[in-house]
Amino acid sequence: MCGIVGYVGRSEAAPILLDGLRRLEYRGYDSAGVAIVDGDRVETRKCAGRIADLGKLMTAEPPAGTYGISHTRWATHGKPTDQNAHPHFDQSGKLALVHNGVIENYQALREDLQREGEHNFTSDTDTEVLAHLIGKHFEASGSNGNANAKSRLVTAVRTALQQVIGTYGIALVHKDIPDFIVGARRGSPLVLGVGKEENFLASDVSAIVAYTRDAVYLNDFDIVAVEREKFEISSLAGEGGHYQVSKVEFTDEDIKKGDYPHYMLKEIYEQPGSVRDAMRGRLSAEECTAKLGGLEMTTAELRAVDRIVLTGCGTALHAGRIGEYIIEQLAGLPVEIEFSSEFRHRNTPMTGDTLVFAISQSGETADTLGALRESRRKGYRTLGICNNVASTIARESDGGVYMHAGPEIGVAATKSFTSQVTIMSLIGLLFGRMRHLSTSEGSEVIDALEALPAQIEETLKLTDHVKEIAKKYARSPGVLFFGRQFNYPVALEGALKLKEITYIFAEGHPSAELKHGIIALVRPEVPCVFIAPDDAVFSKNLNNMEQVKARKGPIIAVTSGGCAKRLEGIADDVITVPSAPDFVMPVLSVIPLQLLAYHMAVELGLDVDKPRNLAKSVTVE
Ligand code: M6R
Repeated sequence: MCGIVGYVGRSEAAPILLDGLRRLEYRGYDSAGVAIVDGDRVETRKCAGRIADLGKLMTAEPPAGTYGISHTRWATHGKPTDQNAHPHFDQSGKLALVHNGVIENYQALREDLQREGEHNFTSDTDTEVLAHLIGKHFEASGSNGNANAKSRLVTAVRTALQQVIGTYGIALVHKDIPDFIVGARRGSPLVLGVGKEENFLASDVSAIVAYTRDAVYLNDFDIVAVEREKFEISSLAGEGGHYQVSKVEFTDEDIKKGDYPHYMLKEIYEQPGSVRDAMRGRLSAEECTAKLGGLEMTTAELRAVDRIVLTGCGTALHAGRIGEYIIEQLAGLPVEIEFSSEFRHRNTPMTGDTLVFAISQSGETADTLGALRESRRKGYRTLGICNNVASTIARESDGGVYMHAGPEIGVAATKSFTSQVTIMSLIGLLFGRMRHLSTSEGSEVIDALEALPAQIEETLKLTDHVKEIAKKYARSPGVLFFGRQFNYPVALEGALKLKEITYIFAEGHPSAELKHGIIALVRPEVPCVFIAPDDAVFSKNLNNMEQVKARKGPIIAVTSGGCAKRLEGIADDVITVPSAPDFVMPVLSVIPLQLLAYHMAVELGLDVDKPRNLAKSVTVE
């Protein structure tokens, strides 16, 4: 949550900061601000609202200067108001700070500062307390007079952060220290972009990839002093930091919308490629298995695994729920799926040979990171399934599988879901082939997986049909989603997509649960979406549809193969996806639901890529 961009160089900072914020807007979009230093003035513009609103302020009165910091906010402490928007200042008014994260002990720190003397706070935020605390230490060190201002400021940041409980990615400037930015991170991502006679700080490389593809992904407890031509990384403890300059995998082109009206639609259409990339080089036709070298486990270690725990949040959790079915079916291993937020605070009994997978597109989700850390603390091998290379989860896990889905900007996750489900099949195949799957069964799994990209292309051709259905139901007061087995989590995902971007009340359930209470909600105004492909439970789904029909509930059915015929006279609308084995069907059956949510949101005139109250990456608890 929240996005930070900092710049120090020879160009005007304002357009670079504003451009970076636009690219980070997916991280939060309730208020935004910049602080740019020009000689002896800190020019600040900030307001509640979108980056476009900040842009208007900056156009009206363009701030000059070649270094500065900026922020797009997702409110945690304090409402989204002009006053609470970042940057925040210290008591002297010379130090400006932007922050992503939560300072948990900010109340106590604030009271201490107030007790100590003149500290007047103008916002409700935890960030302002941190600005005052750093400012206090900086001012106090000035009286010693024996260290230069830059190292004094770094020391003040270090001293203040040692008093802080919580998470932070911060960037700050001080009016009296020209061409100098200090950044630090703990629990919230921060990356240093290394340019030529210019350097950058950002929450995510997408903000700076247009200027440089050389990046240093800072570690927790790193403090970085950034100047135009150099930077220095040290640790919170005061030691020299170790770092590596990496090449960013994608280019500026990859994060553009191109001809698509929304990122979400672009990302839905990227799925043939992203699913292919999730499998690329990972299927061995010769050995009829999957090759997942990133797991960093020997055959003997893989063979010894007797239980798998999958954990994630939101869409990643839903992919994990499908993984539970897939891995149990292909590998015969017991699998459990846990909300990361529950797992991290719960004492789940785990056997010695339990393997834990933390699933996260961003690799920065606080709850999933917490679950990963708790699992590793207990001594379990914990692997990451992430999209963002060098994300915290990817770096802190014992190994893992990258999704290679390319940047996902739309707040509603789409292509990451199908990549995650594909990876679940790879894991199922790998473990299955070490257990009871024969070579011919392994080959069949590979054939099914390899057929997917072309089948996704076919499924995408349904978009006009889905759009018509979307128009019909866009003003429904609620929508219910049902599915069985592999497609039950698809029902959850369909409901989540709809809720997120249309704000229509939606729920997903196993179809059979209908009669245990949910049927009370069925009425002519509430459409029921059944994900009922041609599989072993189709007839059971059909029974449930009859129950809805008998109560005059409209039915939208997502089906496959010859089953469309059997739905005549029962379903009001039928969407037929290509036939596929049950364990890969979710990759296909979810696509009409992504399109349905998308077209309903467009029909309602809503901001598809930036739904209200949400942010792409949830780095707070
Ligand atoms: O980056 P992650 O995969 O860890 O994110 C997990 C959830 O926050 C995320 O899937 C969220 O539910 C999406 N907005 C769903 O569309």
